[in-house]
Amino acid sequence: MSIVLEIKGVNKTFGGLKALTDVNLKIEEGKTHAIIGPNGAGKSTLLNCCIGKLIPDSGSVTFNGQDMIGKQPYEINHAGMVRVFQTPEIFPELSLLENVVIPALAKRDGIFKFNPFKMLSNETEIHDQAMRALADVGLDKFHQKNAGSISRGDKRRLELAMGLIQNPTLLLLDEPTAGMARHDTNQTIDLLKKIKDRGMTKIIIEHDMHVVFSLADHISVLAQGCIIASGTPDEIRNNPKVKEAYLGETEDE
Ligand SMILES: Nc1ncnc2c1ncn2[C@@H]1O[C@H](COP(=O)(O)OP(=O)(O)OP(=O)(O)O)[C@@H](O)[C@H]1O
Ligand SMILES: [Mg+2]
Repeated sequence: MSIVLEIKGVNKTFGGLKALTDVNLKIEEGKTHAIIGPNGAGKSTLLNCCIGKLIPDSGSVTFNGQDMIGKQPYEINHAGMVRVFQTPEIFPELSLLENVVIPALAKRDGIFKFNPFKMLSNETEIHDQAMRALADVGLDKFHQKNAGSISRGDKRRLELAMGLIQNPTLLLLDEPTAGMARHDTNQTIDLLKKIKDRGMTKIIIEHDMHVVFSLADHISVLAQGCIIASGTPDEIRNNPKVKEAYLGETEDE
């Protein structure tokens, strides 16, 4: 099985705070790799180090055999590593359809060249792709609605469509079900299973253990910036260190 992303010896400090300490991770092609851990464990910091939003103090991030350290976020995105953010980043004044078309055009034409004001004229192919991405997340019926007017759960799904339309090699999901009711969460689990069946590699950060254990092939646990365990869902479920640091506290929530 080939390795899509390899993180080696990554350290990151913020002033005196050690947010990540010697983090090592390998993400296999086609797998869903969950990263779990308590609030403030360093999960989002780790993803930010992968997508170029943060530069690690030391260590390496290799994506498809290429060193990513020092590359700009848009270059990493263009290389096929796409993150769906913890806080939805959408364009509230634009329609759902326009929101999904923008990342598709930016990918095709380059982030500094595409023209958002011409985005739907003569763009039937992208329009169709955007409608398919919206259908994937169950939002196609609302494609004309303003993105600002939809529920928080729907905004997260919209953002997922904005990620999916870029057809990423590696999709990074930071708490994709945060703010969703159980019914919406279950729909999102089904959707993420569907894209797994298409062979898309994913890293998923989640606090909801139902989501994690429904989707993950492999789980790594971060606590206070260190990977304290990594293994199959069964190995993690039965790991005493993990129970103590995390699962014990959250299983009953
Ligand atoms: N830009 C920053 N400047 C200073 N400190 C930061 C910054 N980003 C994160 N931190 C700190 O680094 C630590 C790790 O934060 P991070 O957001 O990575 O945690 P997390 O595991 O994603 O938490 P959550 O589950 O709450 O999203 C925290 O103590 C946080 O306050
Ligand atoms: Mg976070």
